[in-house]
Amino acid sequence: MNESNTPEGEIGTVRRIPLAEIPEGGALGAHLPSSTGGFDIILVRVGERVLGYHNECPHAGRRLDWAPGRFIVDKGHLVCAAHGAMFKLDNRFCTSGPCMGNGLVPVALQVEDGAVVLAQ
Ligand code: FES
Repeated sequence: MNESNTPEGEIGTVRRIPLAEIPEGGALGAHLPSSTGGFDIILVRVGERVLGYHNECPHAGRRLDWAPGRFIVDKGHLVCAAHGAMFKLDNRFCTSGPCMGNGLVPVALQVEDGAVVLAQ
């Protein structure tokens, strides 16, 4: 098990986040701005791919992080800090816990020139 976090526990805004800031096989919290205040999301890195998910557990709607931007990753799964649901990093689906079979809501992202940006 390891804990993934943002540098110094801060949550950055997704405009351009360097790929190197996201640990391989880990997760990083970020804020996605919008006209209504925005969303907190999770950036997950699997090799050179970065996947984005809303930071909201399908079980009880809580955030998955145990502290802002800090996530538990265990054996290729993102673990919800509230009740322990485990979501496969590379496909967003819960494989163990109270929301088995449900998935995190995806966010379209892409990697350009070594940085994560919103998909156009
Ligand atoms: S809110 Fe995530 S497992 Fe319950």
